[in-house]
Amino acid sequence: MGRVDGKVAFITGAARGQGRSHALRLAQEGADIIAVDIAESIPGMDKFYPGATEEDLAETVRQVEALDRRIVATKADVRDYDALKSALDAGVAELGHVDIVSANAGIFAFGEQSQLVTDAEWEMVNDINAKGVWHTAKAVIPHLIEQGTGGSIILTSSTAGLKGTPNVVAYTASKHAVVGIMRTLALELAPHRIRVNTVHPTGVATDMILNEATFRLFMPDVEHPTKEQAAPIFETTNALPIPWVEPIDISNAVLFLASDEARYVTGTELKVDAGYTIK
Ligand SMILES: NC(=O)c1ccc[n+]([C@@H]2O[C@H](COP(=O)([O-])OP(=O)(O)OC[C@H]3O[C@@H](n4cnc5c(N)ncnc54)[C@H](O)[C@@H]3O)[C@@H](O)[C@H]2O)c1
Repeated sequence: MGRVDGKVAFITGAARGQGRSHALRLAQEGADIIAVDIAESIPGMDKFYPGATEEDLAETVRQVEALDRRIVATKADVRDYDALKSALDAGVAELGHVDIVSANAGIFAFGEQSQLVTDAEWEMVNDINAKGVWHTAKAVIPHLIEQGTGGSIILTSSTAGLKGTPNVVAYTASKHAVVGIMRTLALELAPHRIRVNTVHPTGVATDMILNEATFRLFMPDVEHPTKEQAAPIFETTNALPIPWVEPIDISNAVLFLASDEARYVTGTELKVDAGYTIK
């Protein structure tokens, strides 16, 4: 018996990184997957790090199917509510129901003092990281209520959803907003036995942070900083002596929250942060 046998999980940002890892971990434990990703580069993000591709999303499909689970994957932008809802509805029509939600899609823009951040950057980050999470919930809640079998909604925040982060104002605001969405939904949905929680990773070894632009945030004077140079500096942010965690560490937290082991866990901010937020 898998820990989420017979369940269906709706995951945004599933083409790569943590989203793909969540899809695989939940599939290993018996879930079928409805996957969504923008799967293209996002205008305004090029100066930070490259976006995911359609090939990345296809690779997630391949790896889930290799585990003998079903997956319905669609290219859609969480900012586009109608596209997101169509993708979800098509997945539910094919797989029969939806029980677990991982609102994981997000972007990381950074590097300017707050007074220098443009409206365009603020809107891009908050539209994806906050409004996109709300869209994900808005699309799935009617299914969960109508099914009447409860459910688990897991929203991906960050340590930046719990603490201030200098030179990262738009992202930090968006990840705090995710906590507000979670607390509100947890209260609204509790009568339906639908649980809502956030996860708060410290740095995770994905394309989002393993890139020169992010390394330069910590080493502004180095023109081409490397992963090896960045690791000891990242390590100073965590209490445990590690620079970052791996996607599987977040996936195991998502799996716990998704499973019946967490049947009375709602409204919780689950930190997987190597002690970052207590420093
Ligand atoms: N990597 C970290 O250090 C870290 C730390 C804390 C929190 N997070 C959060 O974890 C989540 C996953 O990030 P990751 O580390 O896997 O990064 P990633 O860049 O590898 O993956 C993010 C995925 O989201 C997708 N995406 C982005 N915008 C989208 C949109 N508008 N619509 C649909 N899909 C979209 C991307 O295409 C990509 O596949 C994000 O919410 C991120 O903010 C990451």
